[in-house]
Amino acid sequence: MRGPEPEVPPEETTLEEISVTNLVKRYENRTTILNGVSFSVSSGEFVTIHGMSGCGKTTLLNLLGGLDRPTSGEILIDGEDITKLSEDELARLRLEKVGFVFQDYNLLDDLTVRENIRLPLRFSKRTVKRGVDDLIKKFSIEHIADEMPNRISGGESQRVAIARAMVNEPKIILADEPTGNLDTDNAAKVMEAFHLINREFRATIILATHDIALARHATRNLSILPGGAIKEAGRTRGT
Ligand SMILES: Nc1ncnc2c1ncn2[C@@H]1O[C@H](COP(=O)(O)OP(=O)(O)OP(=O)(O)O)[C@@H](O)[C@H]1O
Ligand SMILES: [Mg+2]
Repeated sequence: MRGPEPEVPPEETTLEEISVTNLVKRYENRTTILNGVSFSVSSGEFVTIHGMSGCGKTTLLNLLGGLDRPTSGEILIDGEDITKLSEDELARLRLEKVGFVFQDYNLLDDLTVRENIRLPLRFSKRTVKRGVDDLIKKFSIEHIADEMPNRISGGESQRVAIARAMVNEPKIILADEPTGNLDTDNAAKVMEAFHLINREFRATIILATHDIALARHATRNLSILPGGAIKEAGRTRGT
């Protein structure tokens, strides 16, 4: 007779949340952008992706979030190969599992801050939802909650965009140059917001940036090399 299965304490299990194998992206009549990229990310990691302009950072994030399809290769999210999903299934993935944060915020100009944050809830069937007011408080944007986006600063806009990305409680946040339009002070506040969602909400973060100084915020740094390979550039914080 077999004894009981050994119990592994939850904090010691490593959940491979994202697993990328031999990913290739080639645009028509162009050179190959990603050329056989493989890596995996565990739940709760904070990963920065570096590399020269045009190396494929945005391309990689778009593939991870199902906004674009690879030429070949596999992208598993929670064990499911998202390259095989239909457009409808990808839309659901983006609504429920993955949140996006972009360099230029992508807020809707004719909705208030609060309405922008609430917007993804309209399309979601989930019943357990993070309170919009809680998010507004967490990201210190109470003072602008009823303003229109064209009356708030860039740093505030990005915190609103992060709150909106979190409203459906995604497990993964993909951020593309989120501090690219911000001065040092506002960039620091936005990075604080990413730390908050990583620590407190346990979201996995994959953040692409030119700014090598942001590497220190992450638990792990990846670099896309000219030619389209990816390299582990270091582990800068945590384990
Ligand atoms: N739809 C497309 N069709 C053809 N080529 C494209 C397309 N989108 C991107 N590219 C090319 O793919 C390459 C990688 O672009 P990508 O935007 O991923 O780079 P990046 O690393 O994000 O650059 P940056 O740091 O400037 O944001 C670039 O050479 C770009 O011109
Ligand atoms: Mg880019």
